[in-house]
Amino acid sequence: MNDRYAVIGRPINHTKSPLIHGLFAQATSQSLLYSAIEGDLAGFEAQVLRFRSEGGLGMNITAPFKLRAFELADQSSERAQLARAANALKFEDGQIVAENFDGIGLLRDIEENLAEPLANRRVLLLGAGGAVRGALLPFLQAGPRELVLANRDMAKALTLRNELDHPRLRISRYEELQGQAFDIVVNATSASLSGELPPLPDDVLGETRLAYELVYGKGLTPFLRMAQEQGVARLADGVGMLVEQAAEAFAWWRGVRPATRAVIDRLTIPLA
Ligand code: ATR
Repeated sequence: MNDRYAVIGRPINHTKSPLIHGLFAQATSQSLLYSAIEGDLAGFEAQVLRFRSEGGLGMNITAPFKLRAFELADQSSERAQLARAANALKFEDGQIVAENFDGIGLLRDIEENLAEPLANRRVLLLGAGGAVRGALLPFLQAGPRELVLANRDMAKALTLRNELDHPRLRISRYEELQGQAFDIVVNATSASLSGELPPLPDDVLGETRLAYELVYGKGLTPFLRMAQEQGVARLADGVGMLVEQAAEAFAWWRGVRPATRAVIDRLTIPLA
C-alpha cells in the first residue's frame, strides 16, 4: 500500500497541496497517496488521530487549524514554537512532531527563486499575525541590515518583539514609516483577502526592489498595484512560497528534496 499523507483545513476545496505533492512524488519516483480532508471545527484533533491510526505518516495543516495542530503535537521545532503554529506534522515512533515551514518557504522563494538575498538589506514586514510569526526567525537568521515590522495594533507587534528580542528587529507604526526606504517589502497582513490596502505612507516603496504579497492567486492586489505605481521592479505573489514550503515538508517526510521550478511555473497565474 502507498504511504499516506493529507492536508487538512476548512475550507479545503481550493487547496493545491495534493497537486503539488503529487508532482513532487512523480518527479522523485516516490509512491505516496496525498489527499485533502475538510476539517471539522469541533473534531479536528480526532480527525488527525484517526488519520494517523489509519496509517497516515504526515499531514499539512492549513487555516484555521495551525494553532490547534501545534498544541496537539508532542514535540515541535523552534520555529513552530515561535510561530505557535504548525503547518506540517509527522507521525513517528508514536509521537506527533510539529514543524512550521511557512517562513522558510517564503525566505527560499525570495532568496533563491527571486534572487533577492536578505543579507544586509532593509526589510519591511507588514502585519503581526500568524504569517509574520512564522517568518520572523528565518528572516532574522538571513542577516538583514534591519527588519522592521509594522502593524496597526502595536500591542501585538510589541508582544512579538518581546518574545524575540533581536538587535536587528524593530517595530513601527505605519505612520512612522514616512520617509523611510526598504529594499524588500512583504505584505503578510490579511488585508488583501478583503481587497484592502495596509495604511502605508505614499512614498515608502520608492526605493523598493521587491514587493511580495503573501496571498496567492488574487492577481494585482491593492498592495501590488501600489508597488507597481511606485515603480517597484519586481512584484511577486505567494505561489513560490506555497511550493517551497511544500518542498520542505516533502523533504522532511521523505528524505528527498524535490525541485520546485517546474511546479512553480505550472501554478503561476500572471499578476496582471
Ligand atoms: P494570519 O494568521 O493570516 O497572519 P491574523 O493572525 O488574523 O492572520 O493576522 C492578520 C494580520 O493582518 C494582522 O497583523 C492584522 O493587523 P492588526 O493586528 O493591526 O489587526 C493585519 N491586517 C488585517 N487587515 C488589515 C488592513 N486592512 N490593514 C493593515 N493590516 C491588516
